[in-house]
Amino acid sequence: MDLIGIIDKLKKERDLSDSEWKALLETEDAEVFSYLSSCAREIRESIYGKAVFIRGLIEFTNYCKNGCYYCGINCKNTNADRYRLTDEQILACVREGYELGFRTFVLQGGEDPYFTDDKIVSLVRAIKEMHPDCAVTLSIGEKSEESYRAYFEAGADRYLLRHETASPEHYKKLHPENLSWDNRMNCLKTLRKIGYQVGCGLMVGSPYQTMDDLIADLRFISGFKPDMCGIGPFIPHKDTIFKDEPAGTLQMTLKLLSIIRILVPDVLLPATTALGTIDPTGREQGLKHGANVVMPNLSPTNVREKYSLYDGKICMDSESAECIKCLAARVATAGYEIVVDRGDHKNA
Ligand code: 5AD
Ligand code: FES
Repeated sequence: MDLIGIIDKLKKERDLSDSEWKALLETEDAEVFSYLSSCAREIRESIYGKAVFIRGLIEFTNYCKNGCYYCGINCKNTNADRYRLTDEQILACVREGYELGFRTFVLQGGEDPYFTDDKIVSLVRAIKEMHPDCAVTLSIGEKSEESYRAYFEAGADRYLLRHETASPEHYKKLHPENLSWDNRMNCLKTLRKIGYQVGCGLMVGSPYQTMDDLIADLRFISGFKPDMCGIGPFIPHKDTIFKDEPAGTLQMTLKLLSIIRILVPDVLLPATTALGTIDPTGREQGLKHGANVVMPNLSPTNVREKYSLYDGKICMDSESAECIKCLAARVATAGYEIVVDRGDHKNA
């Protein structure tokens, strides 16, 4: 079968044989690439029209007890300048974000034991009390079922936990021994069972990633049908053991965005900051390849540099208001439009 036929098969069956997957992932044929992205755009526009949803990202702590090899804020990095935002600072970001049109706030942080369940619960409650019309997304890592339930009962709507890789062997090459692939996958299932809108995801071109690993990722995503999926290129961080590894590519990230849009038609798919970091127009291109979400940073500018998962991160000095203005213009150049909306998943 030619590659155009393979893409048509993907649209119908949402899976391919190993050799078809390989052929699609390996091709650099411009015509195939353009057909793939036009299919993704068509699906995206049939469901979400021209709307782009925005999420206000608040990076509230860069303390982390984990030692993920790829991540700049891992616990072994003694060069990381650690910080925690106070409740007041976090709520000030929310207040400002609301005025700028944000109706979803993402609390993202390292796995920081200082933020006990009680603290997270009271933060979630405070945000929901302040703005009952907003969604709260948590992105704070692996927790117990009991903890996840407590946050949900406090009003958290969504949870982001990238699976990182669907291959247990690959997982071991990216994480120290005390972290387990099984536990991460179980967390995703638990979150779904509790009733969250759930996001998984992966880094494109992470060290040791093979085509087979990517095929496993795509099959996992197709089966799990996440509400959200975070896909961005791996970018090395100078203080990690992967500092000399190559970054993931723009082309492969765009290709995967399009494929994921086809596999899970209604998925909420961000054009990530990492994509904007490896290419100045990365996020715009992401939107043209099936992405329908952007997640600008609302953290105070004086801590942004410290939340450094990878080198060269964009938007370091831009105040939130500038950032959203810049982003609105970028979204418009891609032919889309930012909306003031919670931007829930269709089935929520
Ligand atoms: N490059 C790109 N993405 C990274 N992440 C962590 N470190 C890096 C890096 N060096 C991603 C992980 C994590 C998310 C919060 O950020 O996928 O789940
Ligand atoms: Fe942040 Fe452009 S989106 S400065």
